[in-house]
Amino acid sequence: MTSPTIESVLHEERLFNPPAAFSQQAHIKSLEEYEQLYAHAKADPQKFWADLATKELHWFEKWHTVLEWQPPFAKWFLGGKLNISYNCLDRHLSTWRKNKAALIWEGEPGDSRTLTYAQLHREVCQFANVLKQLGVQKGDVVGIYMPMIPEAAIAMLACARIGAAHTVVFGGFSAEALRDRLNDGQAKLVVTADGGWRKDAIVPLKEQVDKALADGAVPTVQNVLVVQRTQQPIAMAAGRDHWWHDCRTSVAADCPAEPMDSEDLLFILYTSGSTGKPKGVVHTTGGYNLYTHMTTKWVFDVQDTDVYWCTADVGWITGHSYIVYGPLSNGATVLMYEGAPRASKPGCFWEVIEKYGVTIFYTAPTAIRAFIKMGDHLPKAHDLSSLRLLGTVGEPINPEAWMWYYRVIGGERCPIVDTWWQTETGGIMITPLPGAIATKPGSATRPFPGILADVVDLEGNPVQTNEGGYLVIKHPWPSMLRTVYGDPDRFRRSYWEHIPPVNGRYFYFTGDGARRDEDGYYWVMGRVDDVISVSGHRLGTMEIESALVSHPAVAEAAVVGRPDELKGEEVVAFVTLEETASPSEALVKELKQHVVNEIGAIARPGEIHFSDALPKTRSGKIMRRLLRSLAAGQEVSGDTSTLEDRSVLDKLREDT
Ligand code: PRX
Repeated sequence: MTSPTIESVLHEERLFNPPAAFSQQAHIKSLEEYEQLYAHAKADPQKFWADLATKELHWFEKWHTVLEWQPPFAKWFLGGKLNISYNCLDRHLSTWRKNKAALIWEGEPGDSRTLTYAQLHREVCQFANVLKQLGVQKGDVVGIYMPMIPEAAIAMLACARIGAAHTVVFGGFSAEALRDRLNDGQAKLVVTADGGWRKDAIVPLKEQVDKALADGAVPTVQNVLVVQRTQQPIAMAAGRDHWWHDCRTSVAADCPAEPMDSEDLLFILYTSGSTGKPKGVVHTTGGYNLYTHMTTKWVFDVQDTDVYWCTADVGWITGHSYIVYGPLSNGATVLMYEGAPRASKPGCFWEVIEKYGVTIFYTAPTAIRAFIKMGDHLPKAHDLSSLRLLGTVGEPINPEAWMWYYRVIGGERCPIVDTWWQTETGGIMITPLPGAIATKPGSATRPFPGILADVVDLEGNPVQTNEGGYLVIKHPWPSMLRTVYGDPDRFRRSYWEHIPPVNGRYFYFTGDGARRDEDGYYWVMGRVDDVISVSGHRLGTMEIESALVSHPAVAEAAVVGRPDELKGEEVVAFVTLEETASPSEALVKELKQHVVNEIGAIARPGEIHFSDALPKTRSGKIMRRLLRSLAAGQEVSGDTSTLEDRSVLDKLREDT
């Protein structure tokens, strides 16, 4: 692990106050109001969350204990019974929202659908009944491998409705990655589609599912439920594969929501760690529902007149928390878009904003950098005046990209919420509340009420103002991950043991470096562990290395990230070959494709360097720090005295 260093401190003095007109109608209207909320929550977190849980959610039965904290294991709202699908759907049906648009969907080829809350409820009930008919029961795990179509959200809500946990696997992951995740989660059924549209091509999702399940590779999966989207021919295995449009004709239109225990498993979502296979991050029902509800309400300031668009894919946590659960729990109108900006339609995002009058737009720095590159003429050709709030998530945003977003997309009128959080945190942790907190380009600003963040050294001592350190969270929060699925030891090791408890107080280790400035604003500097962020997606170096080593020509591999203007980081691999293999351009191509097959296109190395040996410490550890400098074309600096064989480094330097 590298230490965050003071050198990465960036100096930024621009400050943008919340526009008065925005603050006046916002849920949280002023800095004083935020500070009061923050102080209340800090003084008595349990009361703070319990009051909100009472006021904001529907419970079938009230909890008896707000929080049970046996570090590092937390339970929230013990004894409480609720259903997140009920909170996202049913409770709106007795209000005027019944016929309000819940989902407005735009497909890549230009087709579109709108589902009101009443219609979405009906779809979810039918989907839930089909799942039941196919043998899915409370407590089972369902894999979801879908394009960005309404049925992705419908499937998630249907699982939640009957008490089955979902594990959504991003449609860009390979059959191998899907297989590993389905096996780890012991999924009983897979929901997929014949295909999905992405950049003017069809992603053959069902074909990938067939590959993942071939030869009984996932013995727990009994059925595959297939949604028709693209209508290209696909194979349907008799007895195993079922069309959704056929199954739905034989089920009832209503399916009562199952009262779930607050701590019942809601979903597993896999994320990369610094070592080994992806971790199954476990989220449970009550705390997650409350926290995503509150953050959606206060961070995005969602009002009934808003058209809210988050451009993430449902395969990532952002899609779970801020396309599906948080916004629907608030009764918002959610826009969902199937595609991505592409050569044939580089301005499609701006077209969608204009077409539907989007008011809140939430995207990632990697997308913003791509927009900048494509040119101002694209957004300028559209009327973006409906926008009132912008958001960003996924990686640190460079201040100049922030300024471009503010000026060109937000017309200097929209606040920007730079939201820091993780798959593990379930919801947004550090962020401006747009009517209350002045923003500084590049800073996620201040913690959400109830979140006790800090920047500390490896002993847990707070560092000085403006000094770099490790970002930690010092008190449990409702949507924190409960464990790593099937591996509580890994949960402990990954999040709670890097920094030892101080006076009995446990620190959740985020894996990010940060500093806090004189105004208490947080500046997140990026990962301090061996995780690479490509286009805002976390990839473990270890996973890519394992993929490379699984190729017969590869003896050893080391993977590092190299700063990249568009993607944030690019994957660079250093590889030593088996005696029987020799370096060639063809092999480079083959290895890149091998990584794509094993993990997915997002993990494709940008560069592969062959080397006779890798730089190692005397104890045999690969010195990734040196490789990172080499990959970035920088002078290798710092301590190299632990290097076992200096000539390895000299040779690599010549070749790179
Ligand atoms: O390094 C931080 C970065 O993304 C990591 C979490 O990745 P993931 O679990 O895939 O979730 C992404 C979406 C929530 C963090 O550890 N990150 C996320 N948001 C920000 C960020 N870094 C800086 N600023 C952000 N706003």
